[in-house]
Amino acid sequence: MRHPYRKKIIYCGLVIIILIIFLHPDMNGHGTYDFIAKEDILRNLHAETAVNFTSTAVIDCEYYDILWDDTTLSQSLVDGDLVEGHGIREGGEYAPQECKPKYSTAIIVPYRDRAEQLRGFLVYMHTFFRRQRIHYRIFVVEQVDSRLFNRAKLMNIGAVAAMKAGFPCLVLHDVDLLPLRPANIYACSKCPRHMSSSINKFRFVLPYLTLFGGAIAIISKQYKDINGMSNEYFGWGGEDDDLYSRLEASNLKVCRFEPETSRYHMVPHRSTQKGEAKKKLLSSAKERMLEDGLSSLQYVEVATVLHPLFTHIMVDL
Ligand SMILES: *[C@@H]1O[C@H](CO)[C@@H](O)[C@H](O)[C@H]1NC(C)=O
Repeated sequence: MRHPYRKKIIYCGLVIIILIIFLHPDMNGHGTYDFIAKEDILRNLHAETAVNFTSTAVIDCEYYDILWDDTTLSQSLVDGDLVEGHGIREGGEYAPQECKPKYSTAIIVPYRDRAEQLRGFLVYMHTFFRRQRIHYRIFVVEQVDSRLFNRAKLMNIGAVAAMKAGFPCLVLHDVDLLPLRPANIYACSKCPRHMSSSINKFRFVLPYLTLFGGAIAIISKQYKDINGMSNEYFGWGGEDDDLYSRLEASNLKVCRFEPETSRYHMVPHRSTQKGEAKKKLLSSAKERMLEDGLSSLQYVEVATVLHPLFTHIMVDL
């Protein structure tokens, strides 16, 4: 017996199947951008530790096995606590004891008003780093004034503190992002690296090729050479496109690791207030580069406190 809607039902079914195939994250997560192949990663890393960093270990740390660690850490770590005897020093600094690390990284986190999220982030990240054998320290830079949030300026302030402490590598990191794969090593590559290219919120697909926000790794000297980020972006958005323009103007090519390794979980939150007049600012990004950035950075440091899990820098912009 012929059903009058049979054709339509079959047609709809086909469309749904095709959509599932093409929109599936595993389908999209591959081959969407150029990346450094796993076997080339170590060769591409910038091996340098912080000025004055010393280790009593006799053997150098190995990193090869970490790159092939394909476990996914559980997001539920954010609800837990760190075990006693974790060996993290005041100010949120840590280095492995059993071997001498090749990399020192400052993690810089701009922050305001999300205490619960920050707590989860710190516990998660310290647990995550335990598998990476790097020397690192977490700097949280909090904007205490009531103007619109200025993420880029907070990054600059954190970068200055990290460079003062002798760190050769900066990771600029949003507090709502959690790296899922221990293989995503938090060391600088020779090229500025976009680390968070595969976020669950975007169904693990890179939204656009020039995206350079979320979590990025850049050698301190390169950050200095581009005069850091702009100080002019109040309110959400635009500042990372501005940063990308600076890299372009300086012929610094951005790189990434493969999508599988670059997976992140974005913790949901209320969206922040969008700033205005970003288009105009952005169109003059390259012209402003030399005057607007580290060279023009001005702020009031309200306090800096060394907490057990992080260095807390409070600033009035
Ligand atoms: C390294 O140590 C020297 C000598 O103690 C000191 O003068 C210098 O400020 C230190 N550098 C950093 C970046 O901590």
